[in-house]
Amino acid sequence: MCGIIGYVGGKEALPLLIEGLKNLEYRGYDSSGVCLLPAAGGALQIRKEQGKIRCLEELMSKEPLPSAHVGIAHTRWATHGAPCRKNSHPHPNADHTIAVVHNGIIENYQTLRSSLIRKGYKFLSETDTEVIVHLISEYFEGDIVKAVQRAIADLEGSFAIGVVCSDDPATLVAARVGSPLIVGIGESGNFIASDVPAIIRHTRRVIYLKDGQIAVLRRDGVEVTGFDGKKADVKIDKVTFHMEAAQKQGYPHFMLKEIHEQPEVLARMLKARLKNGRVTLDGLGLTEAALKGVARIKVVACGTAYHAGLVGRYIIEELSGVPVDVDVSSEFRYRTVLANKKTLVIAVSQSGETADTLAAVREARAHGAKVVAICNVIGSSLVREADGVLYTHAGPEIGVASTKAYTAQVMMFYLFALRLAEVHRKLPAKHRSLLVKDILEIPALYRGILKEHKKISAIAKDFAHLGCFLYLGRNINYPTALEGALKLKEISYIPAEGYAAGEMKHGPIALIDEYRAVVCVAPQSDIYEKMISNIQEILSRKGKVVAIATEGDQLIRSYVKHVIAIPRTHKLLTPLLAVLPLQFLAYYIAVKRGCDVDQPRNLAKSVTVE
Ligand code: AGP
Repeated sequence: MCGIIGYVGGKEALPLLIEGLKNLEYRGYDSSGVCLLPAAGGALQIRKEQGKIRCLEELMSKEPLPSAHVGIAHTRWATHGAPCRKNSHPHPNADHTIAVVHNGIIENYQTLRSSLIRKGYKFLSETDTEVIVHLISEYFEGDIVKAVQRAIADLEGSFAIGVVCSDDPATLVAARVGSPLIVGIGESGNFIASDVPAIIRHTRRVIYLKDGQIAVLRRDGVEVTGFDGKKADVKIDKVTFHMEAAQKQGYPHFMLKEIHEQPEVLARMLKARLKNGRVTLDGLGLTEAALKGVARIKVVACGTAYHAGLVGRYIIEELSGVPVDVDVSSEFRYRTVLANKKTLVIAVSQSGETADTLAAVREARAHGAKVVAICNVIGSSLVREADGVLYTHAGPEIGVASTKAYTAQVMMFYLFALRLAEVHRKLPAKHRSLLVKDILEIPALYRGILKEHKKISAIAKDFAHLGCFLYLGRNINYPTALEGALKLKEISYIPAEGYAAGEMKHGPIALIDEYRAVVCVAPQSDIYEKMISNIQEILSRKGKVVAIATEGDQLIRSYVKHVIAIPRTHKLLTPLLAVLPLQFLAYYIAVKRGCDVDQPRNLAKSVTVE
């Protein structure tokens, strides 16, 4: 939700800021803006534009900015106020001496706004952010750091901010509560940014700011304090992240690249965590005794990560016998939390910055539960708040539609469940070794499915014109149906619903006619026959069916023309394979409909607001 970047140093600031913004565009892309402190002095110079960063660049080519070595910039995902130029950041004060970029939500902005209006401040935007700059202006008595300190004491909600002031042109001030912000220590200047890719080409030395900290950046140094002004102990981390991982590398879209990366991601995870049949869960933060004492597991997550959690429930319950509840974080945080010391909460999140998941984790910890994060982003807020972390190490996921992060999360659930089952002595050795053998084959099976992408693309062409999709699955592939539907709706904007196939007769069957598609996830299993019955019911109502079925399944082909085959595997592992054709299907349908696959409308990669 919004990307911010700032620079103070010896280089020309504008190219660095624009490059950084482009690497943060996944966080929001409805408008963007930049503010520079001209090297020659004078008022702040601001350019803002609705639309993607290329629109801002077009504006700057018509209205060029002066040379500058200090500046801040922002790419927006609108919360308060429509995406348009006046609501874009940076927001300046009345005389253009102070400007602010902000990621987060100021919850008490209405009260602050009314009180500032009473004092004579004029608001030019509908944003919550604008109160911040006017508050800083109100408190400014010659020291920008002190003014920021006083202003943030009045704010409620979440924020990562960057502030510049023409009266102190060599200083950049940043602060955070609840929204991510890093400080990059460079050779010829220092940066603030919402995320590492924004600055990685210029420095790998990074401070992950904590909630309640202010950073004061100058060309030759950075000082971090608490909001009370007391010096904070900070650690400079070295980022081991390869820039190529955050580039398309010849693929037309990040999503397609990330779909193709899945076999390598899974193989890497297995190599690191499954050695000679033994699972190692470094980072888990729980002793064997603590794991043995786990009486109940609660998974909290949002969106795709929630679907991974639903698959996780089937796996953990089947292998270890430990009962599992799965909640979307936004529901969990507001209902009565029944958790105690014997409850293990597993928080699943690609970004580790999802506001609702962070809030759910805080709620769970307040009830005495231990929290383990399954997370992709190193050093993220979730990781810092959890008792343990199982990193998926899937590499940067840039496409807004999550693909490789999902399969890595699901794989982590298999590994975790194997370990839990071992500790709880629930899984017979023979069964375990067969499962481990099949798990190890998954990356190779993935490579086989990837080769089938042309067939899936052809099916997508036949189905792309349909106005509504239903995805059906049963048991462990019910979440696969949910995930397939989410992928399609978020990138193609076609209404798509995932359902447990057994629920079809309880309502969704009313939707079916010759204009609707039904995607049936029907690999071989003990409930296969039930899926076949569902398929017949759909066909007899003229529904258009795509079936995901096990290789060699001739029966299904005798009913269904459009079949996508997945290799035979252990029935517990079928969700890992079945989701791959669904990712491709969504991708090719979206491309066929001319949609912006990597940056779908209204969405952002990490949802750092409630
Ligand atoms: C998935 O394709 C999404 N765009 C979205 O549902 C995402 O999974 C969700 O917002 C959770 O994000 P997280 O994994 O970063 O917490």
